Amino acid sequence: MHHRGKYKCLTAMVLLALFLSVGNAAASNLDTFLDKCGGCHKKGAEAAPVNPADKAGLVWKKYFKRNRHPVDLSGTVNNEEQAKVIAFLENHAADSDHPVAAIIPK
Ligand code: HEC
Repeated sequence: MHHRGKYKCLTAMVLLALFLSVGNAAASNLDTFLDKCGGCHKKGAEAAPVNPADKAGLVWKKYFKRNRHPVDLSGTVNNEEQAKVIAFLENHAADSDHPVAAIIPK
């Protein structure tokens, strides 16, 4: 029954790797949000802080796809960055598991 323990260990390692990579993806979505949106959307800056929990995930997805943002960001936010920002907003949207009422980038 020795090899059973080995499989358990391998499973634990795979789960850990999965967990870490998910954690990293989430962190980099947040970093992209802070980097690309935080400059204008923070206390004392030109625009109000963005509340992910203001909208449902699907609404966030459509917000940028339909160019609802009042300022044209096409010169500073590329498609990959936009996808990360949308992922961050969806992960913390009103109907998500972890809604966030106010993200105020420092
Ligand atoms: C160049 C400055 C600038 C950047 C960068 C910027 N915004 Fe904005 N944003 C504005 C301005 C100006 C408004 C309109 C004024 C306001 O809502 O405070 C606005 C409005 C918004 C609104 C509407 C708020 C409402 O109450 O309807 C949302 C949502 C928003 N921005 C999200 C974002 C996100 C997400 C990013 C990052 C991809 C971002 N913005 C990047 C300047 C910016």
